[in-house]
Amino acid sequence: TFEIELARSGVVLTVPPDRTILEVLRDNGHHINSACEQGVCGTCETVVISGEPEHRDTLLSAEERAANKTMMICVSRARTPRLRLQL
Ligand code: FES
Repeated sequence: TFEIELARSGVVLTVPPDRTILEVLRDNGHHINSACEQGVCGTCETVVISGEPEHRDTLLSAEERAANKTMMICVSRARTPRLRLQL
């Protein structure tokens, strides 16, 4: 379980182990574009402002992963208790 903070609204949402970030956002009325929902297409790529993602996509390069500047919210999770996202 971890939290996401939406930078534009300051809203904080909890992501339980059995839900993805994308699902939690949709559960809370946010419209987010997605396509593959398997971490391969890049449609759901989201800017990370702070916190460290646990990358589970197959799209980002090793350098991009290490930079922690974006993440695929359909599959990736968090290594830190909270991620602040540009949403
Ligand atoms: Fe394709 Fe997330 S929807 S990478």
